[in-house]
Amino acid sequence: MNVMAIILAAGQGKRMKSKLYKVLHPVCGRPMVGHVLQTVKEADCRRTVVVVGHGAEAVQAYVGGDAEFVLQEQQLGTGHAVLQAQPLLGEEEGTTVILYGDTPLVTANTIKDLLAKHEAAGAAATVLTAVVPNPQGLGRIIRGEDGRVLRIVEQKDCTPEQAAVTEINTGMYCFDNRKLFAALSKVTNHNAQGEYYLTDVLEILHSLGETVEAHIADDYAEGVGVNDRVGLAEAEQLMRARIVRRHQLNGVTVIDPASTYIEADVIIGPDSVIYPGTTLRGATTIGEDCTIGPNADISGSAIGSGVTVKHSVADGAVIGDQTSVGPYAYLRPGTKIGRDCKVGDFVEIKNASLGDGSKVSHLSYVGDAVVGKDVNIGCGAITANYDGFNKSLTEIGDRAFIGSNVNLIAPVKIGDGAYVVAGSTITHDVPSGDLAIARERQTNKEGYADKIRARAKAKKENAKPGI
Ligand code: UD1
Ligand code: CA
Repeated sequence: MNVMAIILAAGQGKRMKSKLYKVLHPVCGRPMVGHVLQTVKEADCRRTVVVVGHGAEAVQAYVGGDAEFVLQEQQLGTGHAVLQAQPLLGEEEGTTVILYGDTPLVTANTIKDLLAKHEAAGAAATVLTAVVPNPQGLGRIIRGEDGRVLRIVEQKDCTPEQAAVTEINTGMYCFDNRKLFAALSKVTNHNAQGEYYLTDVLEILHSLGETVEAHIADDYAEGVGVNDRVGLAEAEQLMRARIVRRHQLNGVTVIDPASTYIEADVIIGPDSVIYPGTTLRGATTIGEDCTIGPNADISGSAIGSGVTVKHSVADGAVIGDQTSVGPYAYLRPGTKIGRDCKVGDFVEIKNASLGDGSKVSHLSYVGDAVVGKDVNIGCGAITANYDGFNKSLTEIGDRAFIGSNVNLIAPVKIGDGAYVVAGSTITHDVPSGDLAIARERQTNKEGYADKIRARAKAKKENAKPGI
């Protein structure tokens, strides 16, 4: 079967009250129109045409090569919008699916069911309908005494009896492509809104003796279009539950789905456990047997298998197998951590790599650095990578030991196996195997502790009262 898709995305979306064009608003991290494109791809549509208008350039920039485009300069109605695709699709033989760019919840399975029903019935048009608790604002499905669909009537054109119908038009259909365009040329704008209604095509086809079918969606939520930020949050919640469920069915344990936020493109391996309060965003991948969370916020990161990330933030980081991160670590873009590493509490890493087996256990900043294997960076040690103008590199060789509270003033190189004594401020390179010590020598003054106390006490007593 030659299946094509037309996605309507020319409307303005005024009720979003946004600078961002409506269909580009993300739901679970992916623009709404991106979800619809993914759905038509999964439903094996061979050609996809997106009808753009408001925000055309931005939508086209996002969609890129995944579809063809036609411009609807003025939004004269859904029928007029589909007609814009005629120069591209008008000559095709086959079936055309029509969807909206602001209906992100529809699934490929539902579209496949719709197509199957359409084909089995030999229909000219099959509309996806839903029975909803509140049909307000939506087109009503008007069936004849034999139960067949006669037409769709918009809210504003409804008689009171028609308004009482609870079966509504989701706005998704499939059509015999040739018959669709032939009927569209007959649609007028003689209605309450003065628009060219796509819905009129059904009545036109019916009056020509063509078969018009309806497929009732199992879950009416799939047809819900997003019109404002309230709808956006509702769509987000439904999509989020769906994503969590998909991971669960793939073998991921999600302790508390209600407090787990996983965006659409995230990949998680089996037997990983996601603890509450965790957000996984962007193109994040997580391997098998990981423990993520509680309270991990991970975006655009590639995490190996057997990794633990607790109470930490990772953005654009790569983390090797069996490594442990957190609690309270902050991994910024350009962080590359090897296998069997430990990044402990209050450690910040930025644009730096850490070789296999290295440890930064507490209270460190490692920025613009290349750290070798099996290195130990002590508590409170930092790289001083910025002089107010330039960022400079710190290099630390394999098996080096960086003592507690060391300042490495970049650019600086610590050789393999070198040993930097605690409290040192290192401004020159340390050759391999050397020990570096850069701190004031200690002196002890015998018995001075009591003297200094007495002096301090006297100072306090001589001070004016009230200060
Ligand atoms: C439409 C249907 C209605 C259905 C409802 C479901 C018609 C006449 N009515 O109504 O039966 O119940 O959807 O949500 O089709 N668009 C364009 N160009 C236009 C007009 C619209 O691209 O000139 C796009 C919009 O961006 C939107 C979609 O088409 O994504 C639907 O348009 P909208 O005006 O929201 O249709 P409704 O009045 O809600
Ligand atoms: Ca709408």
